[in-house]
Amino acid sequence: MSDDSRPSPAEARTESRVAAVIPAAGRGVRLGPGAPKALRTLSGTPMLIHAVRALAASRHVSLVIVVAPPDGAAEVKSLLDAHALPGDTPGGSWGRTDFLVVPGGDSRQESVRLGLDALPPEYDVVLVHDAARPLVPVDTVDAVIEAVRDGAPAVVPALPLADTVKEVEPAAVPGTPEPVLATPERARLRAVQTPQGFDRDTLVRAHATVTENVTDDASMVEQLGLRVVTVPGHEEAFKVTRPLDLVLAEAVLTRRRLNDGF
Ligand code: CTP
Ligand code: MG
Repeated sequence: MSDDSRPSPAEARTESRVAAVIPAAGRGVRLGPGAPKALRTLSGTPMLIHAVRALAASRHVSLVIVVAPPDGAAEVKSLLDAHALPGDTPGGSWGRTDFLVVPGGDSRQESVRLGLDALPPEYDVVLVHDAARPLVPVDTVDAVIEAVRDGAPAVVPALPLADTVKEVEPAAVPGTPEPVLATPERARLRAVQTPQGFDRDTLVRAHATVTENVTDDASMVEQLGLRVVTVPGHEEAFKVTRPLDLVLAEAVLTRRRLNDGF
């Protein structure tokens, strides 16, 4: 602290408080019949618990808000308690990370907004992280936080694409041929992941302003005309969407266990 007791820029930077909103209210239609996707297990532990742990693993994240399936908030609360460590506060925290559970909505966007509505005033950086990305490494989480603390209003982890992408005229009947309209230059495209990180006021304003349905939060900030930047994503931050993704997630967990054993 300097003589006049105002925080220097470096001190102010470390004082920003970080919360994570984890939308987990989806059904997981593309994964097939069964429990809501976030409650399906990977190596015996619900996907949502993996995701909460991945965010709580960052020493910067002090609050996790889980947006539960609309009728599943009580179940999610007891899952969080069941996976707490000895010494944690039942219904309140894992170690130094507090958690809250709120019921979600009909769209991802609505679920995130309901999570933001529960955000206490003292948090000025917000991450939004899909429960369906249970294996994101903590280094990716920290890279997003650092870029927001460095002044970017919105930050997305992103990876170059393996496949070439075509823009098509979507067919009315799924599975029938579709006319190709264009081939964007692959080198300029990125696949974006979560956690996406935001200056809190920016994200709240984006959710209050943008009404059309979107699949990620950063695109709402883009619509406000603000700067969105990428940081390197990670292949283990992939989204569990279709059945084959479950096989990959189990394989990643097995590889981690083997690596931990040596
Ligand atoms: N999500 C949410 N509320 C919704 C819909 C989705 O909180 N009404 C969450 C999901 O739980 C998931 C994340 O948003 O963690 C990303 O969505 P997606 O992968 O599409 O999951 P689902 O919508 O559950 O899957 P599907 O689209 O196959 O039904
Ligand atoms: Mg969905």
